[in-house]
Amino acid sequence: MSNYHIKHLEEYFQIYRKSVRDPENFWEEVAEEHFMWRKKWDKVLSWDFTKPEIKWFEGAKLNITENCIDRHLPTHGNKTAIIFEPNDPEEKEQYITFKDLHERVCKMANVLKDQGVKKGDRVCIYLPMIPELAVSVLACARIGAIHSVVFAGFSSSALATRINDSNCKMVITSDGSYRGSKTIDLKGIVDESLEKCPCVETVLVAKRINSEINMTQNRDKWLQPLLDAANDYCPAEIMDSEDPLFILYTSGSTGMPKGMVHSTGGYMVYTAYTFKNVFQYKDEDIYWCTADIGWITGHSYILYGPLANGATTLMFEGVPSYPDFGRFWQIVEKYKVNQFYTAPTAIRALAKENLEYVEKYDLSSLKVMGSVGEPINEEAWHWYNINVGKKKSPIVDTWWQTETGGIMISPIPYATPTIPTYASLPLPGIQPALMDENGQEIKGNQVDGRLCIKFPWPSIARTIWGNHQRYKDTYFSAFENKYFTGDGALRDEVGYYRITGRVDDVIIVSGHNLGTAPIEDAVNEHPAVAESAIVGFPHDVKGNALYGYVILKETGETRNQDNLRKEINQIITEHIGPIAKLDKIQFTSGLPKTRSGKIMRRILRKIASKDTGNLGDTSTLLNPEVVKEIMDNAL
Ligand code: PRX
Repeated sequence: MSNYHIKHLEEYFQIYRKSVRDPENFWEEVAEEHFMWRKKWDKVLSWDFTKPEIKWFEGAKLNITENCIDRHLPTHGNKTAIIFEPNDPEEKEQYITFKDLHERVCKMANVLKDQGVKKGDRVCIYLPMIPELAVSVLACARIGAIHSVVFAGFSSSALATRINDSNCKMVITSDGSYRGSKTIDLKGIVDESLEKCPCVETVLVAKRINSEINMTQNRDKWLQPLLDAANDYCPAEIMDSEDPLFILYTSGSTGMPKGMVHSTGGYMVYTAYTFKNVFQYKDEDIYWCTADIGWITGHSYILYGPLANGATTLMFEGVPSYPDFGRFWQIVEKYKVNQFYTAPTAIRALAKENLEYVEKYDLSSLKVMGSVGEPINEEAWHWYNINVGKKKSPIVDTWWQTETGGIMISPIPYATPTIPTYASLPLPGIQPALMDENGQEIKGNQVDGRLCIKFPWPSIARTIWGNHQRYKDTYFSAFENKYFTGDGALRDEVGYYRITGRVDDVIIVSGHNLGTAPIEDAVNEHPAVAESAIVGFPHDVKGNALYGYVILKETGETRNQDNLRKEINQIITEHIGPIAKLDKIQFTSGLPKTRSGKIMRRILRKIASKDTGNLGDTSTLLNPEVVKEIMDNAL
């Protein structure tokens, strides 16, 4: 029996038991059979969650791009590695074979080298979903540079914060991007951020929308002429298994975004393994994940996981609503997509539209449909199952995080029976634990608690860039000797897990992690604002939306409140990006606080959610009278 490809439920249980009994042996077998190592490891795993320090396949040497590209050349050189579907359906698609990809990545890698990028340097990639994005990511990996992809919907100041935090010496961007019927001036955003980023020496600019842009002398260079002049072979830099592969920022409940650092060997093994099993990928299949490569889902399940399996992965530049709400389904029909992986927020948005948009297209190629990023509600699950999958294509509700690198809890399609809203069972090697508030593990079934993981898996993030202490405090301090996810979960009577949501001040809006503190900081920048508190409330498309309670300074009170609301959202857009805009802003004279001065967010959350039947004990508040005022004026 191969550990690598699970086909039945019984096989899952056998493999799972084996993976827990002897994780090192289990992962060693997977790593040995399926990858190309320049040198094998001296030790499979060493770990200490108290430091915390985790090392997988120590002593091994490899390059992940040899596994994602070169290895497939002899047998699959002419197979399509990446299909590029542009924003505009009238524009021609591109089929990039493994051979083409090899050449493009090598050329790009040589350009990076020519521009002085070396192993270990950080390169910020701020690009739309065009082939240059995939090629840039892989080119960094080819030469051992650490890529830091920043989602091209983030604002200039969010971009600057991320560039400076990891001291990137180069930015790769484009003149602009298409998003539905709009164009976005990406280069203008980069120019604005670089006023605050002295570390950046070079900006490489891909041409996408042919707009007029400013090129700063000696700093900005058009990418294409450099690529045209570059050699089409670049030897792969041989990396240690534990060398960092990339940094990817995620929001914390407080402070700066956290630059999660992923390392090479373990990340490769785990993303490849989970891709194969969760999507049951077969050699001829066409796989499509609708995420952006700016998020972890795109890193692990558009690029590395699929390519390590020699899969054909589709990259879509556009949005689900352009030119109309049938765009996703039209693409599924066009390419006969077999595995489709998207987010609940997209499903909910499309479910609101006329069913004709779905029914018009032949979706019979679909074999597996995935969901990721937030809990999928029952209604959305059924809509997806009935109208897209026609009840014959299993839904894999995959729970995981930027920090985990790969999928952790998910059904294995055609093996694990699915139940709406349940991510179901842990994948092999994953040992979840539910904890109570006193730090004790809650054993048995039909229980709920805080979700932790007891044992390391190969793709766990190794640190936060430049701040190991924060890594320890955030993930390893709440519960002794366990990785704490920040999520709550329940385990039902048969041991299935259902993720109930964040238990900290992170709010998931349309599948994007947003920390409340950075948004409050942005709101407080407005000259009329004295203080603010932000909470989430349920929203039928976004899952959660943001509700801001704002105390104005005296001078602000006379101003037009609608204008103030617009100005506050404008500041948020500039500091973070439009995804963090507040849906509702209520002006108030005070915020409920404990005697130690802490805002009682629980009360604010209940009011925002119109769930004021039981506000709990408010008598310990410093200012209980303010609760009535807030309730009376709630939006
Ligand atoms: O709260 C969980 C939620 O998304 C968080 C991780 O967000 P991020 O790091 O941006 O990664 C998203 C893509 C992997 C988790 O802590 N989440 C993710 N998937 C699910 C989910 N909540 C419920 N069900 C899921 N399937």
